[in-house]
Amino acid sequence: MNERTLIKGKIHYVGVNDRQKHLFEGMWPLPYGVSYNSYLIDDDITALVDTVDAAYFETYLRKIRAIIGTRPIQYLIINHMEPDHSGSIRLIKQEYPDIVIVGNRQTFGMIEGFYGVTGERYEVKEGDFLDLGHHKLRFYLTPMVHWPETMMTFDETDGVLFAGDAFGCFGTLDGGFLDARINTDRYWEEMTRYYANIVGKYGNPVQKALAKLGGLPIRAICSTHGPVWTEEIARVVGVYDRLSRYEAAEGVVIAYGSMYGHTEQLAETIAAELSAQGIRDIVMHNVSKSHPSYILKDIFNYRGLIIGSPTYCNHIYPEVEALLEKILLREVKGRYLGLFGSFTWAGAAVKRMGEFAEKSKFELVGDPVEMKQAMTPLVQERAEQLARAMAARLKSDRRQ
Ligand code: FEO
Repeated sequence: MNERTLIKGKIHYVGVNDRQKHLFEGMWPLPYGVSYNSYLIDDDITALVDTVDAAYFETYLRKIRAIIGTRPIQYLIINHMEPDHSGSIRLIKQEYPDIVIVGNRQTFGMIEGFYGVTGERYEVKEGDFLDLGHHKLRFYLTPMVHWPETMMTFDETDGVLFAGDAFGCFGTLDGGFLDARINTDRYWEEMTRYYANIVGKYGNPVQKALAKLGGLPIRAICSTHGPVWTEEIARVVGVYDRLSRYEAAEGVVIAYGSMYGHTEQLAETIAAELSAQGIRDIVMHNVSKSHPSYILKDIFNYRGLIIGSPTYCNHIYPEVEALLEKILLREVKGRYLGLFGSFTWAGAAVKRMGEFAEKSKFELVGDPVEMKQAMTPLVQERAEQLARAMAARLKSDRRQ
């Protein structure tokens, strides 16, 4: 039994799968579910690293007991306090009243605030150490990846990094949890969608954490979500490095709203011309159909972004405006932006999207295109000009 949970040394996987929840954080769809990962170190001194959503406590406790039976756990290390991981702290404390909670200065206020749990604690600072016997743990503070209290725990014996949300992804662990024993194909796009939506605002803190951890001899990454990475560490770190730099590939996301198809016709015209100009990666999203989490994922993937909106009540189409807010919230950087829109009697959407262009600091490419009521040869020509300007701007990067 224990062989099925063992990662390295005396470290076991004791996480759970959530195939019930529809929306993570109440917002982000989970078509493949999500795992809440926790790790049990069954050493001379026993330690648990993070917990799981409280709804899964019974399953969680059963997994712990299958490994250590009725023996006590000495330490509960809390790398991150978001309730998908901290949710079982109170129940663990009830089950193991003498357990010593390990966290940093910021952690304990949250534990008391969320769960009313106090008691013996080990408050760690940057670089502090905990010797469990075989495993020797060192703590690194990594604030805002993705809350202020977040830290990471590194096992210096076997090179295992307990990374909190960092390097996480959506998707349950179906059968196996080690990347070496499962087909990981489905996790990569879900990693980008997870990053873009959950961690996306915190590019700088992620970069600082990567710099801090860069010299460590990491042989396994144990995130709080998704597979345990042992064979694809470089690829996982590469994904997080690229996304946190806001680096993106050549390609264009066209996100538009359309009530009766006229704005969509403009979007199709722009897309066709982009393709004619040699842009191969074009992703079109009707904002009324695509969930924003997928649009944001693609915006993190591609450098070009063209947004279209009809004028609605003298404003931007509400679904487009909601998307623009989400982009600004994440402080996405370095995108080339094109704008287009339509109106029936008075144009407002394109003008108002100009305010988004300023706030986002994106490089405005080409002239915004505005259509009154329906397509005309002149509007078509302007839309194609916008597409040609975007294609030229993207292709100019090829030469660098
Ligand atoms: Fe998976 Fe920030 O919690």
